[in-house]
Amino acid sequence: MLKTKKLVMIPGPTPVVRSIQDQMGRETVAFGDPDFVSDFAEVVSDLKSLWKCSGEAFVVAGSGTLAMEMAIANVTRRGENVLVCSNGFFGDRFIDLCERKGLNVDVLQAKWGDSVTPETVLAQLALKEYQVVTVTHVETSTGVAAPVAEIARAVHENSPALFVVDGVAATGGVEETIDPMGIDVLLTCSQKAFGVAPGLAMVWAGKRAMEKRATLGRIPESYVDFDKWLPIMHNPAKYWGTPPINLIWALKESLRIMKEEGLEERYARHVRQGALVDAAMEAIGFTVAAKKPFRAPTLSVYLYPEGSGIDDARFRTVLADEGVQSAGCLGDFQGKGFRMGHMGNIDKHTLVSAVGAVERACVKCGYRIEFGKALGVLQEGLAGE
Ligand SMILES: Cc1ncc(COP(=O)(O)O)c(C=O)c1O
Repeated sequence: MLKTKKLVMIPGPTPVVRSIQDQMGRETVAFGDPDFVSDFAEVVSDLKSLWKCSGEAFVVAGSGTLAMEMAIANVTRRGENVLVCSNGFFGDRFIDLCERKGLNVDVLQAKWGDSVTPETVLAQLALKEYQVVTVTHVETSTGVAAPVAEIARAVHENSPALFVVDGVAATGGVEETIDPMGIDVLLTCSQKAFGVAPGLAMVWAGKRAMEKRATLGRIPESYVDFDKWLPIMHNPAKYWGTPPINLIWALKESLRIMKEEGLEERYARHVRQGALVDAAMEAIGFTVAAKKPFRAPTLSVYLYPEGSGIDDARFRTVLADEGVQSAGCLGDFQGKGFRMGHMGNIDKHTLVSAVGAVERACVKCGYRIEFGKALGVLQEGLAGE
């Protein structure tokens, strides 16, 4: 039988478009090659200007977790107090990471599907002084988007803490700005809304974060030390660790695509299309796990309809056979639904194919739905764009 092409609809990596693939397939040059040096410099400069950062931007080889490590390592000293605002699995990742650094960690934990709010943060800030507050912008285990701008305001109006945002499942798909929003450190990686293959960690540090770094002197970490990378980010002709040349070219192409689409439109597209896919899935009985004001535009957790008789493992296997790779749920939602990304450089074809495959998988798994019901909702919305 002819195999159906697999769409990678997990919440990252996301589909990598041809023009970005082409950059990864180029013949690798020396990292001192003047053309590459100028491309790298342009990438760093674009990251700063597009995310409105008057501080610094860092691009290094690594995944999102390395970016988390880099963020924390450069703005904390042993014994300081960190408030972790966690909406699920990836928010919790900061706990171990910070504890290993000898930081005192308090956790504000939202119920799965819900978000920490500015009010809960305010109440906690009244009890204790924190040097750092962390928030996960889009929590990939629940599909919840935290109200980052409002939490930033609550933090800055009531505490001297630096505000660290994990933008792994948000940056490039949901609006984030460094200076205007009051984000002191933003971290992300290449394989989600940037639509590049995994392998790049990106960190923005605002002015206050860089001032804090300057007070720390020599930090225990080497590879993730801002001080080691800063000369290279200012002049990529210099060397500290070999840059992932082809991935940086791929990121340059990703940024070109973003500039061509326009960031405002890109964020608006994610909001529109995320809401449409959610509505399509609701039309065939699935429940969006994230509470309404906090639904992320970039990915969703879809809980199986009650009484549908769908077996989780079988459903995701059938869905993959029908051409869509999805992710299983974590924590409280494990076995109860599946996770699907709708972020990055995905177009109308991809969304229609993905929802069509979900319809086929439902029927093949014994959950009788009317074909076209979810697709109809999606098509109606896409035609109106
Ligand atoms: C919100 C969030 N933070 C951090 C990470 C860790 O990133 P990585 O798997 O690239 O190390 C992920 C991974 O999916 C994530 O979704």
